[in-house]
Amino acid sequence: MQGIIFNALEDFVLEKADMELWNSIIEDSEVASGGAYTFGVNYDDAEIVALATTLCEKLGVSLQDGLVLFGEYLFDYLVERGPIELQSYKNTQVLLTELEDVVHKDVKRIHPEAYTPFFHYEPNTESQGELKYQSKRQLCAVAAGLVKGAAKHYKQSVELEHTQCMHDGHDECIWKLTFAAMH
Ligand code: HEM
Repeated sequence: MQGIIFNALEDFVLEKADMELWNSIIEDSEVASGGAYTFGVNYDDAEIVALATTLCEKLGVSLQDGLVLFGEYLFDYLVERGPIELQSYKNTQVLLTELEDVVHKDVKRIHPEAYTPFFHYEPNTESQGELKYQSKRQLCAVAAGLVKGAAKHYKQSVELEHTQCMHDGHDECIWKLTFAAMH
């Protein structure tokens, strides 16, 4: 997993709590890297799972709920640091349509060693569609949080109905998404 995701997790902890909590999470998780994460460097996936698990234990929230909240936070963090074109997307549906071929492809171009997930968004109507996700990491909770974060960013509401999940043995996750504009 790319260093930027670890940097975002640290920022998330600093925003919700403080440096003391972050240091204690690093210590208790016994991560191989020692907890100093650099942008552009790739770290073992197990480290993000260990850190997120320790964080959620300390906060007394389920890993699932914690990952959704982190995903929500992560969206703005990535948009602020990602390609400038992200700012000009009209809404979440447009972003989701371009996620595979533009956004994550750009991540691969800049960091060829990054492993990016597979996404496909199929609109049924302008406000409703189906999102498919596949990844060896099975981070659908983070994906759901990112979709919520995106909707907030584009001033929309979103309903996510997780109709199929990799954690139940399926080879991909599917959500039915319903968007509405908020003014
Ligand atoms: C709604 C929008 C988005 C969704 C649903 C999404 C989904 C995800 C998920 C679930 C992951 C975790 C890795 C995995 O599942 O295997 C991930 C990784 C990542 N995403 Fe996105 N993403 C979104 C937007 C963005 C944006 C705007 C950027 C900015 C450039 C971005 C850059 C990245 C990067 C750098 C990684 C880490 C890849 C790695 O560590 O190898 N994503 N994304």
